[in-house]
Amino acid sequence: MEISVLTIDGPSGAGKGTVSRLIAQQLEWHYLDSGAIYRALALELTEKDVLHDSITEIVEVALAMDLVFESGEEQLVILNGQDITDLLVLESTGNAASKIATIPEVRAALLQKQRDFKQAAGLVADGRDMGTVVFPEAQYKVFLTASALTRAERRYKQLKLKGIDANLLKITTDIQERDQRDSERQFSPLIPAPDAVYIDSSNLSIQAVVEEVLSLVR
Ligand code: DC
Repeated sequence: MEISVLTIDGPSGAGKGTVSRLIAQQLEWHYLDSGAIYRALALELTEKDVLHDSITEIVEVALAMDLVFESGEEQLVILNGQDITDLLVLESTGNAASKIATIPEVRAALLQKQRDFKQAAGLVADGRDMGTVVFPEAQYKVFLTASALTRAERRYKQLKLKGIDANLLKITTDIQERDQRDSERQFSPLIPAPDAVYIDSSNLSIQAVVEEVLSLVR
């Protein structure tokens, strides 16, 4: 039987992570946080001092990454034996990830790692190109977005809750820059799949979005 895949794509801060995790829990499906893979690679490149123009070296690092997602109350991300969960959420990590994500060879190197998450009984895949490139065959596709200001305010609250110092204006500018880079890049840009259901979460609660997405699957 074909394994079910639900893709949730959209810009940073639209609520994809929270919504995808809740849906995966309710359906008892696997969860792929593809952004965390790009973020982990960005961290590893900084750690190893690899320059952004050394594409061969970046691809080698990408292929060698031993990345483990431990699901529990909070998802832990372990890279080469080291817990990098707290470093992953930093805005600087997201910005670095968005930059290396423009390189087509890097995207190609990470493709199989992402496809390996497709396992029974099903998968909820969260990212930018899940429905267009990684799982074009997915039965259920959502494009989840929200206004830039709403997304910046959500990110600000998330960081504050984690005790991380944050500045709303800086986050808004970063989000707009990142949106532009992710949407205008030549390879696998952030665009809705033609068969995706478009949801604007600006005025919706998390629960309302979860219900709407679940109604597509059920
Ligand atoms: O979803 P996120 O904010 O954790 O993603 C961080 C960056 O990684 C995002 O700005 C662009 C890149 N990314 C991507 O290019 N493709 C994906 N499927 C997921 C993330």
